[in-house]
Amino acid sequence: MKIVEHIKLPIKKEMELFEEKFKDSMSSKVPLLNRITHFIVRRKGKQMRPMFVFLVAKMVSGGNFNERTYRGASLIELIHTGSLVHDDVVDDSNRRRGFFSLNALWKNKIAVLVGDYLFSKSLLLSIDNDDFDLLKLVSIALKEMTEGELLQIEKARKLDITEAVYFEIIRQKTATLIAACTGIGAASVGAKKDEIELMRQFGVYIGIAFQIKDDLFDYTDDKIGKPTGIDIKEQKMTLPLIYTLNNCSAKEKKWLINSVKNHNTDKKRVKEVIAFVKKSGGMEYTIAKMKEYQANALKMLSSYPDSDYKKSLITMVNYVIDRKI
Ligand code: IPE
Ligand code: IPE
Ligand code: MG
Ligand code: MG
Repeated sequence: MKIVEHIKLPIKKEMELFEEKFKDSMSSKVPLLNRITHFIVRRKGKQMRPMFVFLVAKMVSGGNFNERTYRGASLIELIHTGSLVHDDVVDDSNRRRGFFSLNALWKNKIAVLVGDYLFSKSLLLSIDNDDFDLLKLVSIALKEMTEGELLQIEKARKLDITEAVYFEIIRQKTATLIAACTGIGAASVGAKKDEIELMRQFGVYIGIAFQIKDDLFDYTDDKIGKPTGIDIKEQKMTLPLIYTLNNCSAKEKKWLINSVKNHNTDKKRVKEVIAFVKKSGGMEYTIAKMKEYQANALKMLSSYPDSDYKKSLITMVNYVIDRKI
């Protein structure tokens, strides 16, 4: 059995029901929108965020579950999907989930509007059901994601990113949404403030490890269903390169910065930069950092008694860094 199937075992029925509910949450009377949301449902991703919502809800409550948990998972997946649709416009990327991205098929105009539509559906789903506590958690995430994306663009323009700023960017753009998953999982089953906060912090650690893994993929030729090697093209300096810049000679640093600044669209030069980063130990350093966050995340589970849900969560945290896509 595949590892993901294994993780899903204790929440198999819930995930199946979720797919129906998620599909319904996007419905529209506008034919074009309906065609596009149909496309989105068919090209679904790994669905790791709803899995985190469900597994945390079950671990915290000892197996309980309710409609709020389902709505929480839909809220998150709507925001996640909308942010990927926008992200591919921002990153000028033409592939997503092993197929053409929405902007590649329908152009930027439509992709921007579809992203907005998904965000609005998320807001309405929570408001219509008076889920204001869950709405607060996703709203914080959406605000921070936007700030993180903008900080990333600012740093890509100035090429002056430090390791501390890199961590701040990935905390904002990726980890806050995963923190919302784990926070909402707990909140949806009536956990108290402290426990929601504990689970949120668990999600922050997972999310940071998750984005580091994503940034590592970009330095490989792995078939992950979306382009690799595009971060340097987009002048996005991630941890492997930041480490290398801090651990090379002044002359090499000048060459690296000049490459990213003026030769970022030259494929051969980008390959040389990637090779230099690899030779300098940038990958090993980044992997070690990722593992620190993985370990921090796992520590947050120590106060919970053993259960199938906890076991699945542990496997899932490990899968975040071992995954092949
Ligand atoms: C992609 O997230 C965006 C990042 C935060 C790196 P996922 O890798 O979870 O995307 P899907 O939903 O499986 O496509
Ligand atoms: C992740 O950003 C998407 C968001 C957090 C909005 P990236 O641009 O790094 O992710 P991929 O690699 O395109 O999925
Ligand atoms: Mg991006
Ligand atoms: Mg991108």
